[in-house]
Amino acid sequence: MRTIAIMNLKGGVAKTTTTVNVAAILARDHKKRVLVVDADSQCNTTEFFGADPECGNLARALKSSWGGELFAVQQIQRTDRDGVDILPGSEELMDLGLSGVEDKAVDAEILRKLVRELEVVDRYDFCLVDCPPAFNAASAAALLAAGEVLIPIKLDAFSLRGMTNLMRQIYNMQEINPALELLGFLPTMWYPCRYTHDAEETLRDGGYTVLPHIRRTDKADAMTFDQRPLIETSPRCAAAVDYRRLVRELLKGGGGNG
Ligand SMILES: Nc1ncnc2c1ncn2[C@@H]1O[C@H](COP(=O)(O)OP(=O)(O)OP(=O)(O)O)[C@@H](O)[C@H]1O
Ligand SMILES: [Mg+2]
Repeated sequence: MRTIAIMNLKGGVAKTTTTVNVAAILARDHKKRVLVVDADSQCNTTEFFGADPECGNLARALKSSWGGELFAVQQIQRTDRDGVDILPGSEELMDLGLSGVEDKAVDAEILRKLVRELEVVDRYDFCLVDCPPAFNAASAAALLAAGEVLIPIKLDAFSLRGMTNLMRQIYNMQEINPALELLGFLPTMWYPCRYTHDAEETLRDGGYTVLPHIRRTDKADAMTFDQRPLIETSPRCAAAVDYRRLVRELLKGGGGNG
């Protein structure tokens, strides 16, 4: 199983849009078995897939006193989409800060244990973790569990400057989870202009992998109302075509952990 954390500390860069569309394409086009983990208290991914946090959620699993990876497995729900299951988020995730990890009220290792458990039983091909725009207990848990981290980025100066902090967090977590690889930066809401071109060059010059970009399209907003992935609502729109191309790239890559 490949476990990919979809992360950026910056908000609104298409982490959730990427998670739900990549999950849908993996499941529908490539018949992969996908687990989506919603690590964000905003619960956008949970709502998108119509899941109910009351029936199970990540915050419950992270509270170590509730007990173990088997309890975490019980938090997983089916979605009405073939091939996609979800471990929902909940508002409680907002209250689970890093201090909770230090004083052991939160088990940041639980997601890692859950992933190992799911690998033993070969239940999924992919686990995609939609991270919050913050570094908290849930994002720490995601980076401890993941084999790869994918960073959606909007190519503007604010985002590029915000990267230093993000990369520091990733390097710190690599000391605890040396298997964690940077899959690359994914330019989102892309449009052709000198700035996006230069920003991609800056990333490449920094030695980073830049994944094939996702073009800007109005259909992305419409998708959030329809609660259906772009390949269903607007299969010919630029972003749907680009997400399909991205998934083909991901499948070629094979990944570090599965
Ligand atoms: N390719 C695209 N073209 C145009 N708009 C897009 C595209 N991808 C995403 N968006 C829009 O950008 C906004 C933010 O997307 P999304 O919620 O996926 O970001 P996020 O990084 O998950 O945000 P947050 O940090 O709040 O979790 C949404 O309104 C979404 O519809
Ligand atoms: Mg989001």
